[in-house]
Amino acid sequence: MILTHTGDTVTVRCPAKLNLFLETRGLRPDGYHELETVMQAVTLYDNTVMRRVPEDRIEFRCSDPQLPDGAGNLAWQAADLLRREAELREGVSITLEKRIPAGAGLGGGSSDAAGVLAGMNELFHLGLDRKHLCSLAANLGSDVPFFVYGGTALCRGRGEQITPVPAGFVGHYVIYCPHVAVPTPLVYRNLARLGLTSGDRSASFVLDSLARGDTIAARASLFNRLEEAAVSLVPEVGEARRTLTAAAGLAALVSGSGAAVYVLLDSEAHAREVAQRAGEMGVGQVFVVRTETAHREAC
Ligand code: C5P
Repeated sequence: MILTHTGDTVTVRCPAKLNLFLETRGLRPDGYHELETVMQAVTLYDNTVMRRVPEDRIEFRCSDPQLPDGAGNLAWQAADLLRREAELREGVSITLEKRIPAGAGLGGGSSDAAGVLAGMNELFHLGLDRKHLCSLAANLGSDVPFFVYGGTALCRGRGEQITPVPAGFVGHYVIYCPHVAVPTPLVYRNLARLGLTSGDRSASFVLDSLARGDTIAARASLFNRLEEAAVSLVPEVGEARRTLTAAAGLAALVSGSGAAVYVLLDSEAHAREVAQRAGEMGVGQVFVVRTETAHREAC
C-alpha cells in the first residue's frame, strides 16, 4: 500500500495480491478453514481517496457501478468500523477507483478495506499501531489483515495471523482474468464436496525459494489447494488456466478462489511477451505486475 497525505486529502494505492501457496488444513469449529498461505502484494492497484467532511456520515463513491456504493461495500464497512472504534464525530468522504477485478481471488475488496483503515488512521491522526489496525481488519475479512502489512507474508489461522517474510527477489507475473466473478464461499463448499479440505503440503519450499531469490524453484513450488475446487465449479477458470499456460509455455495457477490465474516469469520483458500472447489468445483482462515492496519501505 502506498499512502500519500497532501493538504486535506489522503490517497492510498491499494495493491492486489497473489497466493503463491495455499493449503487448507481442515475445517475449524467456527466454519472457516485452517489455512497456510503465502500472499504476495503486487503492483496492480485500486485507489482510495479520503477527505474529512464536517457532517457526521460516510460519503462513498465507487467507480465501478457493478459494486455496492454504500454499506454493502467492504471499504464502507472499514470506514464505519474505524469511526466507531475511534469515536469520530466528523465524517469522511471516500472515493474508490477500481482497477482490480472483483471476485478474482486478487483481494481487491480486502485491500481497499485495509487502505481505508490505514488512510483514515492518517487522515484523523488516530495513531493506531499496525497491530491494532490488524485486529480491526480481521473483523472485516480473512484477507484484510495481510493488506495492513503488504509485501510478502505467511498467513495462518483463518488467514489473519500474519508473519511477514523477506522476498529475496522481485518476481514478474502475468495475471489473466476471465470475465467472471467467483464467489469464495462456494469454492470452499466445493472443496469439502471433493473431500480436499485436509491437505498436508508445506509452505516451506516456496518460502525457501523466495528467500534464496530462486525464481525457477519458486515457480516449481507454487501451489493452491483451492484450484481444483474453483476450476470444477467455474469452467471459465479452467479455460483461463489453459489460455495462460499455452501463452506462457508454463503452468498457470489460480490465485485464491479464482477467477484470476497467473504465471511467474523471470523478467519484465518475458512477462510482456507472454501478456501479449495471452491477450491475442483469449478475451480475459491481462495485467503485467511485479512484487510490491512499497509498504515496507514506507514503514
Ligand atoms: O473471511 P471472508 O469473509 O473473506 O471469507 C469469505 C468466505 O470464505 C467465508 O464465508 C468462508 O466460506 C470462506 N473461508 C473459509 N476459510 C477461510 C477463509 C474463508 O472457509 N480461512
